[in-house]
Amino acid sequence: MKKILVTGGLGYIGSHTVVELQEAGYEVVVIDNLDNSSLEIKNRIEKISGCTLEVIVSDINNEDVLDEVFETYRFDGVIHFAAYKAVGESVENPIKYYRNNIGGLIQILAAMQKHEVSNLIFSSSCTVYGVAKELPVTENTPIQLAESPYGTTKIMGEELIQDFIQYQSIKAVLLRYFNPVGAHPSALIGELPNGVPSNLVPYITQTAAGIREQLTVHGNDYNTEDGSCIRDYIHVVDLAKAHVKALAYAETMKDKVEVFNVGTGNGTSVLEIIRAFEQQCNLKLNYRIGPRREGDVEQIFADTTKIKKALKWEADYGIEEMMYHAWMWQKNIPT
Ligand code: UD1
Repeated sequence: MKKILVTGGLGYIGSHTVVELQEAGYEVVVIDNLDNSSLEIKNRIEKISGCTLEVIVSDINNEDVLDEVFETYRFDGVIHFAAYKAVGESVENPIKYYRNNIGGLIQILAAMQKHEVSNLIFSSSCTVYGVAKELPVTENTPIQLAESPYGTTKIMGEELIQDFIQYQSIKAVLLRYFNPVGAHPSALIGELPNGVPSNLVPYITQTAAGIREQLTVHGNDYNTEDGSCIRDYIHVVDLAKAHVKALAYAETMKDKVEVFNVGTGNGTSVLEIIRAFEQQCNLKLNYRIGPRREGDVEQIFADTTKIKKALKWEADYGIEEMMYHAWMWQKNIPT
C-alpha cells in the first residue's frame, strides 16, 4: 500500500482529498495544526471512507515533529495543502503569509530531500494569472505580478519548487485551482470558514442559514453579460479526485515538473451562482448589489485541455450540485 503524507489534511480541500485517496487504496497520514479545522473532521473522514486515519496534530513548521513523522513513515509522496488562503488577511499581515506559506513549504522540501521522498503535489491557484491577457487561461498564459501577499506566496511557492527539484530526485505536480466550492455529498465534510467568510459560496450559505444578514454582490458594472464577475467554480470532490490522478501521474511522468489548471472550463457569474443556489435549494437569498471589491478580476476561467489529456481527469459535477451540496453541508456543520 502506498503511503502519502497530506499536510493540512483536515482542511477544506485536504479532507476531501484524504477521502478520495483512502477510497483509491492509499494509506494516508495527515499532519494538521487545526488552525482552520477540528479533530471532528478526522471522525467524519473515517465515517465516509470506512478507513482509519492517522492524524498528527502539529504545525509543519515544527521541524522536529516533521522529521520524526518522515522518519516513522516512509512516504511515497506528499500532498501539500497546509497554507493560509485569505487574500484580505494577507494584505494586512504579509509576514504571517510568507512565514507559513513559504516557510512551511521550505520545511516540506527539506524533509523530502532528507528522507528521499520523490513525489510532491502542490496547491497553487489561478491567482497566479492575475488579470489574464487571454481567456480561457492555459498553463502557458503568462504569470502576472501578484495582487496580494497570498498570491505572491503561490507564485513564489511554484518558483521555489521548480528551482529546488532541478537539483534533487523529486518530481512535482503544481495544481492551479480555480474556485473550489461545494462539499462532500454525504454532508459530513465541507468548508469551515474562520470568522466572516470572504469567499462567495460560504457567504451565500451563511446568509441563507441566517448567520449573515445579507450578501453583497461586489459590482454589477463589469463588462460581462449580467455585469457581475465570472469565475470557474469547481466542485471540491472533483478537485480532490484530480489530486489522486496527479499523484499517480507524478510517479511515471518524464519531466520533473508539470503544471495543470484544475477547473471545469466554464465561466459562471456571481448572479448566475445566486440564481442556481436559489433554484437548487428552493429558497430566496437576501442580497444587494454593492460596489466592486478591490483586487477582483473581471473574469477568469480555465482551459482544461492539458489536464484532460494527461491526467484523464475531468470535472463531473455542475453548478447545481455544487450549490446543493454546499447548502446540505451548511445545515450539517459540526458545532
Ligand atoms: C479568491 C482569490 C483567489 C483564491 C481564493 C481562495 C482574489 C482575486 N482571488 O478568489 O486567489 O485562491 O479566493 O479561496 O482575491 N463575491 C461577491 N460577494 C461576496 C464574496 C464574493 O460578490 O461576498 C464575488 C467576488 O467579487 C468574485 C466572486 O464572488 O467575483 C468569487 O469571489 P471569491 O469566492 O472571494 O473568490 P475569488 O476572489 O475569485
